[in-house]
Amino acid sequence: MRIDIISAVPDLLTSPLSHSIIQRAQAKGLVELNIINLHDFGSGRYKQIDDYPFGGEAGMVIKCQPVFDAVKSLTDERHYDAIIYTSPDGEILDQPMANELSCLENIIILCGHYKGIDHRIREHLVTREISIGDYVLSGGELAAAVICDAVIRLIPGAMSDSASALSDCFQDGLLAPEVYTRPSDFNGWKVPEVLLSGDPKAIHAWQEQRAIERTRALRPQLLENQ
Ligand code: ADE
Repeated sequence: MRIDIISAVPDLLTSPLSHSIIQRAQAKGLVELNIINLHDFGSGRYKQIDDYPFGGEAGMVIKCQPVFDAVKSLTDERHYDAIIYTSPDGEILDQPMANELSCLENIIILCGHYKGIDHRIREHLVTREISIGDYVLSGGELAAAVICDAVIRLIPGAMSDSASALSDCFQDGLLAPEVYTRPSDFNGWKVPEVLLSGDPKAIHAWQEQRAIERTRALRPQLLENQ
């Protein structure tokens, strides 16, 4: 999979995308991540990427030209399955959407900007708008990093134990059961007996039951969607 992220603040993306599973997935060649600085496509002496909004409101709006040029520099090289714009207006990211995106070959993520981008970009270039939740961030970079994290860890081989992506919260529409490690008794707080039993069937049954119980207690609306 190849992900190209177009951003006006590329430094915000470097650290979140260079550690742990994402970094290993890149090292293994499972994903190629490129961060494109929108300022490289700005116009004039000052490489301008934004301008005052028509209508006289405060703040600056990202111009069409640098974004269309940045996207064209990518689409001239290869086909893209999706050109995503991060925005609080978009479809809310969830696990089924992350699964769907992880099956795509090439995607572009265009990071939103606090005041917005010229609407013609959204109308004529972007193919999908994604929000990471009903709150407003100052820019789309952190949202893009969240999308990349949720998607890349699902690419087969990205996680050392491929089964662990399958046992994630939400993967089957349920929250994950509790997990514990040694010692089995800490300050008198004991690990559930069944986990020490060595009986895989009993352990699996307990995990399934806890997943349902935790979902019912913490996120009952998830059970309604089953
Ligand atoms: N940009 C600003 N807020 C956002 C959000 N909640 N999701 C995605 N992009 C955003």
